[in-house]
Amino acid sequence: MTSQALRDALADRLKASGDLDEPEWERAARSVPREAFVSGGFLRPLPGTAPTLYEPIRPADDGWLEGVYSDDTLITQLDGHLRAVNLAAPRHGDPTSSSTLPSLVLRMWQQLGVTSGQRVLEIGTGTGYSTALACARLGSENVTSVEYDPENAEQAAAALKGLGYSPDLRVGDGLDAAVVDGDYDALIATCSVRYIPYAWLDQVPVGGTVLATIGGWMGAYGLVKLTVTGRGQATGQFLPGTTSFMIARPHSRPPRPPLVMLPGQTKLAEAQPAWMDDWTMRWVAQLAAPSAERLGGGDYQVLSDVSTGSQAWFSTDEDGRRLVTQRGPIALWDRVEDALGVWKRAGSRPQSAFGMTITPDAQWVWIGDEEGPTWRLPV
Ligand SMILES: C[S@@+](CC[C@H](N)C(=O)[O-])C[C@H]1O[C@@H](n2cnc3c(N)ncnc32)[C@H](O)[C@@H]1O
Repeated sequence: MTSQALRDALADRLKASGDLDEPEWERAARSVPREAFVSGGFLRPLPGTAPTLYEPIRPADDGWLEGVYSDDTLITQLDGHLRAVNLAAPRHGDPTSSSTLPSLVLRMWQQLGVTSGQRVLEIGTGTGYSTALACARLGSENVTSVEYDPENAEQAAAALKGLGYSPDLRVGDGLDAAVVDGDYDALIATCSVRYIPYAWLDQVPVGGTVLATIGGWMGAYGLVKLTVTGRGQATGQFLPGTTSFMIARPHSRPPRPPLVMLPGQTKLAEAQPAWMDDWTMRWVAQLAAPSAERLGGGDYQVLSDVSTGSQAWFSTDEDGRRLVTQRGPIALWDRVEDALGVWKRAGSRPQSAFGMTITPDAQWVWIGDEEGPTWRLPV
């Protein structure tokens, strides 16, 4: 099949799934060739590997173009420097850049609610694919995009230029007021943040939209659509679905030595560690212990607090009951159990029942409304 035929087939699938409703964005989806943004190849996760091995897929490989037009995220960089072109064999690593899956990119552009003539700021140019869709829909003159990594930025710039798009591309930290300084109708972020950078709220007028994913070191995420309500103020609701993005580099977990599980106080675990595999329960746990990292999964996992070194880890007694051992100034699992209790008493509601409010002094997430149970984000 030709590129155009594959692109049309993908657009048809996204229309059928309800991810592509607006005709203007449909035209953009049918016109932007995704392969131009992954011309150096991509890294495909090999199923059943743990930690995940990534296999390099290059343009000369069989099935390349079909892979490009799958509705999958195409990872283009590992560990901040490894790319498919440099790799002869599968490798481990942490994904640091990608072309986000088309259904998500298009859904988010539609959720942002921008129309012709409006100006947008995108944080996280990545490959430039989502930037190109915005240029096709809104006109290059209305699109600004910021990328942290100079090599990613250079490749995205070349791909965009090659297709005749000319957005304002900036290289630097898109969380930094000096880099994002501008005047836009809406802001969209394709990297996640632990809290909303105040600089973002200054980019759009009162009534303007900021669409971003709140993430964290437990691997929980929530896509929030905020309306700016004043200087340093915003409020909004989390959206349905399971949107996750790699975390903005300045919000990454700080480097640490290899983790060693240390002795502490052991008790029966009321909340089961495997509950953390559930999207909403992991989200609640992360709200309760926002500076904790989560390693492992299922019955055997470790929570480790980055700021205090506190730990919680799990074992099983001879009767098969799950035990938790906690150590350090923060009893991490107690906090998680308390938060899950609060969430359950509030009706075990899905993430779309959560909202978020920002004031110049604090940011907090709530269930139901601002009077409901609340957790502060680590600003
Ligand atoms: C998921 S990718 C973006 C996907 C992209 N929109 C696309 O469609 O190809 C996330 C990107 O955000 C970038 N990034 C991370 N932290 C950033 C920051 N503080 N400012 C700007 N970009 C950042 C990463 O380098 C990465 O390229």
